[in-house]
Amino acid sequence: MYSEKVMDHFTNPRNVGEIENADGVGQVGNPKCGDIMKMYLKIENNVITDAKFKTFGCGAAVATSSMATELVKGKTVEEALQITNKAVAEALDGLPPAKMHCSNLAEEAINAAIEDYKRKNGLLDTEDSCNACGRRCEDIHHISEDDN
Ligand code: FES
Repeated sequence: MYSEKVMDHFTNPRNVGEIENADGVGQVGNPKCGDIMKMYLKIENNVITDAKFKTFGCGAAVATSSMATELVKGKTVEEALQITNKAVAEALDGLPPAKMHCSNLAEEAINAAIEDYKRKNGLLDTEDSCNACGRRCEDIHHISEDDN
């Protein structure tokens, strides 16, 4: 049912843990199952130099989190924002259709951590927040209120 890569990243997940003084931290929940993923990013000169995660979720969620941290390392912020849940699943040689929703956590956690980084560094404008948070556009008002 699962590819060898999924099993590998599930049984031996990369980059588990926290980054102290992370430049961006994002936590997201999967509304379909209640699973949670938290991602920590270290960002220097607009490049992601380190990534760690904690996931309370199913095996596919752990494997996609692990792969997502591997994919974002060395990427610019803009490149990391282009990483889709499909790209994460493809890097794992695919997920069973019933588990594709699990990969949403990875994409959303990357976006949330970068959004946090941008907010902390005054780089977030309304358009950015819409791109960054995808399905959480109701946050835009909240974010711009904070900024003012
Ligand atoms: Fe919840 Fe997979 S079942 S993320």
